[in-house]
Amino acid sequence: MPGYQPSLVVVNPGSDTLARGFNLYRENCLMCHGADLRGQLSAPAMPVRDLTKFKDYKFGGTDQAIYRTIVYGIPKTAMGHFQDSLKPQQVWDLINFMKSKRTD
Ligand code: HEC
Repeated sequence: MPGYQPSLVVVNPGSDTLARGFNLYRENCLMCHGADLRGQLSAPAMPVRDLTKFKDYKFGGTDQAIYRTIVYGIPKTAMGHFQDSLKPQQVWDLINFMKSKRTD
């Protein structure tokens, strides 16, 4: 996986509000992953996993793994990379928002 080594050492600094992560999710992720993070309603043709079930994440549900997925993307899929458009704190805000929706 691209970026695997560097992101193994990243540490989640926390977010003082979930609102920023929610807004970032709406602007950057909702069109594919859905308003409910489960992907089915807004984009039925897109084969995305249910992002509320961290244990089912194919590329890992730890802070470090999710950071890597968002920053570097998943090659050969519609999941692009956000290393040029999101700052590290914004990625953590997104992750902390996603964790607030976690169901497993
Ligand atoms: C253009 C559509 C699209 C956008 C926009 C998008 N994703 Fe994805 N995402 C996907 C697809 C498709 C996959 C599944 C790739 C695969 O087949 O493994 C995926 C996979 C993921 C995964 C990996 C889940 C796992 O199983 O490990 C995470 C986490 C994720 N996306 C988060 C995000 C976040 C956060 C954003 C916004 C910053 C975002 N995605 C934006 C399409 C998108």
